[in-house]
Amino acid sequence: MTSTAPATELAAQVARRRTFAIISHPDAGKTTLTEKLLLYGGAIHLAGAVKSRRAARHATSDWMKLEQERGISVTSSVMQFEYAGFAVNLLDTPGHEDFSEDTFRTLVAADSAVMLLDNRKGVEERTRQLFEVCKRRRTPIFTFVNKCDRVGEDSLKLLSDVEADLGIQCHVVTWPIFRNDAFVGVYDRRLDQIHVFDRDTEHGARRGHETLLTLQSPETRTLLGDESLERLRHDLELLEIAGHPFDRDAVLRGELSPVFFGSALTNFGVEPFLREFLELAPPPVARESTDGPVNPTDERFTGFVFKIQANMDPRHRDRIAFVRVCSGKFTAGMEVGHVRTGKQIRLNAPQQFLARERTAIEEAWPGDVIGILDRGNLRIGDALSDAGALEFPDIPRFAPEHFARVVLIDPIKRKQLDAGLRQLTEEGAAQVFFTSPTEVSGPTPLIGAVGMLQFDVMLHRLEHEYGVRCRLEKVAGRYPRWVTGPKADIERVGRERGRTILYDANGAPLILFEDAWGMRWALERETAITFHEAAP
Ligand code: G4P
Repeated sequence: MTSTAPATELAAQVARRRTFAIISHPDAGKTTLTEKLLLYGGAIHLAGAVKSRRAARHATSDWMKLEQERGISVTSSVMQFEYAGFAVNLLDTPGHEDFSEDTFRTLVAADSAVMLLDNRKGVEERTRQLFEVCKRRRTPIFTFVNKCDRVGEDSLKLLSDVEADLGIQCHVVTWPIFRNDAFVGVYDRRLDQIHVFDRDTEHGARRGHETLLTLQSPETRTLLGDESLERLRHDLELLEIAGHPFDRDAVLRGELSPVFFGSALTNFGVEPFLREFLELAPPPVARESTDGPVNPTDERFTGFVFKIQANMDPRHRDRIAFVRVCSGKFTAGMEVGHVRTGKQIRLNAPQQFLARERTAIEEAWPGDVIGILDRGNLRIGDALSDAGALEFPDIPRFAPEHFARVVLIDPIKRKQLDAGLRQLTEEGAAQVFFTSPTEVSGPTPLIGAVGMLQFDVMLHRLEHEYGVRCRLEKVAGRYPRWVTGPKADIERVGRERGRTILYDANGAPLILFEDAWGMRWALERETAITFHEAAP
């Protein structure tokens, strides 16, 4: 069944959608900025929810708190709000310090990204990793330099470091103004306006009121003094001459990043940023599929699952698949093709997520994310389509870097263990490996993780959601490559030098190498087999 909406309404809904994620290194202020964006989006009651999530995040080493944190972070993992006629979807990414696949998959569902930097630290390791994912996908990136309420790195130096480090060009939209090391405001180069900083003693828990001046106004000279005004003029001239001019196409190709300065904590520079970001950021655009590009204004519904979460709220023991709508209109209860199985499925109980509340929704448009109640049919990467058997291929998978054998503390719980691991695998929270391609009730499997934290999460969830207590025995090898080619060659290479051959949940073989050197050696010499970084 295809639900059709008048083409003009569809086009109008697409044009006003902005779907983005914030990428940053922990502590740059993502939680704070999110909170402030929601405040401006009129969702004031959410601010507290985000804050309690921060409190939970600070307790990441206390695994008894994990459940609580999941409950909060998941229900707020897609935040939708309206601002100035735009329908904004802010996709949140987990706050853990550890490398997480979840974050990368979320970026696939976003149409643009906001790179948040601490003005004293510039580009940090996690920012760089996430930036690379965006760059590979040519996602438009907007930069917000945070914490300007206190003096940071010289702004020009910070920008040139960003350009050199990340290989992206910067175009400054708002520029910070300091007088004697005290933050005075930001100058908006597009609008030729100075936003005067009003140090807000409530730490920005309310919308700041802003005074606007121009470079020429006499108040500006009084505010800045001759010296700071001269420096500002000089900076602006430099930006004009040495900076990159604004070029919308380059922004949309992900080659030029518009840069804003501000302070999320004191709520300063957030509103000009939001306003201009929404104007400049792209609406949903055509997505590549195995059947050619899918245009968001195509009336036939398409979407893909980028995240699955089970048992996420003790009050609702269920499983929810997060679907990014790519084209057409979604209406509650509609039936669509589930491409992997070739069956029609009914999309029931769709939800949008607002803090701890789940709101049932009746309709959704391209760019939106809907939560579908799922009984175990959907998997990450699955396409839902009324436009034929197409797939959206670019959900990234990552090779695990840590392996461990799961050892049951109570051996009669094997069935529950298998059920739990199956669930975690389908959610993309674990990767399970066997030592033989046909191992079903043989020795317990191995699990692979991209970051060490993932192991703790798995053990905790197995115990609390499936009643299975386990311990892990770490396996030495940490350099996996999936392999294709003649079986005899795979066996030969995989049994040399203490290597291990493993099989993933689909039975595809991979070789676990003893060290990076051994892996490179094999990759160069063993031409009879092909090595793959992720499952082929
Ligand atoms: P994260 O989600 O990116 O990890 O960062 P989060 O928002 O939790 O912020 C990390 C720290 O940086 C917090 O301080 C927060 O208050 C502070 N911060 C965020 N934005 C700004 C800003 O614009 N200016 C300044 N000066 N600080 C900012 P904390 O001491 O770790 O936590 P809290 O006690 O303030 O909650």
